[in-house]
Amino acid sequence: MSSALLAMSRHLEVRDVLKTIVASARELLDAEYAALGVPDDHGGFAQFVVDGVSDAQWKAIGPLPRQHGILAAMLREAKTERLGDVRKDPRFEGWPSAHPEMSDFLGLPIRDGDEVIGALFLANKKCPKPQGGCGFTMEDEELLTILAQHAAIALTNARLYERSRELTIAEERSRLAHELHDAVSQKLFSLRLTAQAAAALVDRDPSRAKGELQHVAELAAEAADELRAAVVELRPAALDEDGLIATLRTQIQVLDRAHSAHVTFDCGGIRALPAAQEEAMLRVAQEALHNALRHSGAEHVRVTLDKRGPGAVLRVSDDGGGFEPQAVRHAGRHLGLVSMRDRSGGVGGRLTVESEPGKGTTIEMEVPGG
Ligand SMILES: Nc1ncnc2c1ncn2[C@@H]1O[C@H](COP(=O)(O)OP(=O)(O)OP(=O)(O)O)[C@@H](O)[C@H]1O
Ligand SMILES: [Mg+2]
Repeated sequence: MSSALLAMSRHLEVRDVLKTIVASARELLDAEYAALGVPDDHGGFAQFVVDGVSDAQWKAIGPLPRQHGILAAMLREAKTERLGDVRKDPRFEGWPSAHPEMSDFLGLPIRDGDEVIGALFLANKKCPKPQGGCGFTMEDEELLTILAQHAAIALTNARLYERSRELTIAEERSRLAHELHDAVSQKLFSLRLTAQAAAALVDRDPSRAKGELQHVAELAAEAADELRAAVVELRPAALDEDGLIATLRTQIQVLDRAHSAHVTFDCGGIRALPAAQEEAMLRVAQEALHNALRHSGAEHVRVTLDKRGPGAVLRVSDDGGGFEPQAVRHAGRHLGLVSMRDRSGGVGGRLTVESEPGKGTTIEMEVPGG
């Protein structure tokens, strides 16, 4: 049981969490089949994970089940179901022809507070069962209840993590919309007026029309610059509202909860930094954290932010596998290290990457302050 729980807490992607839960449930309770469904809002399942069914069998069965029959009852009533023969239950509505035969059934809702966020169920206990009764015992039910409670935590964490990512994206999107509106649409408006003026003048006064057209070209170039600036300087809204330290602290707390690695943050008290430097620091911290959590397999990731002269130093270190910075080919897909370097350079700062295979990684960024 505890190794099942450990395995669960190690996974982050919702689908991996679900797979681990289902496989652990089937193994622990010695069942032939196990499944877990997370309902969507349209009568179907957003996720449906099975264990004990081969890929070929799974394909043959056809589309994902809808929320009907026993599954629907479990989701709706949030009640445990322990049945001797699922096919004899009045709520049973049949299954596709390639569906494996199932008789004894144990199903449990997965709850987050009052909300049912999924259902976990097992079929066909492997050992012999009492005549007419259910092969799954009261003890099985208790075991599955514990598993379902932990599944709820893991699922909620994974959802929290995904939501925080979505939130960041939404924030940036609205910021971009504002900047585009303020800067670029005004430029485009003058551009339109100037072009109209040029059109009106072209027959009457060709040389003035020419001047207006030059103006059109200038305005177009300015609009392009504004657009680029709006995209590049996209500032996360949280930075303006809460400042660098609080923003980092919140983001790190979320990461710590979402990942099995311990992610900590210590701040030695720094002076306020110019906005551009704060933003660059936040971006570098985000990428360095992302890399540590994605590539290093670390148990601990430590982020520190300290004062150095009028400026500040950010350090992100992990105790993971490390890598050879020189060996990273910058062509193609790997943009993180390059962009961290660009961002540091862009605000007059400095980035150092210290890493060695087997020895973990430390990314250090220093900015000059204002
Ligand atoms: N903390 C780390 N621990 C171990 N390996 C790392 C770490 N940071 C980076 N690496 C290695 O360096 C490579 C390059 O990192 P980089 O951030 O440039 O690209 P990426 O993370 O692969 O892709 P991208 O950041 O563009 O999504 C990674 O693919 C990984 O192999
Ligand atoms: Mg990266």
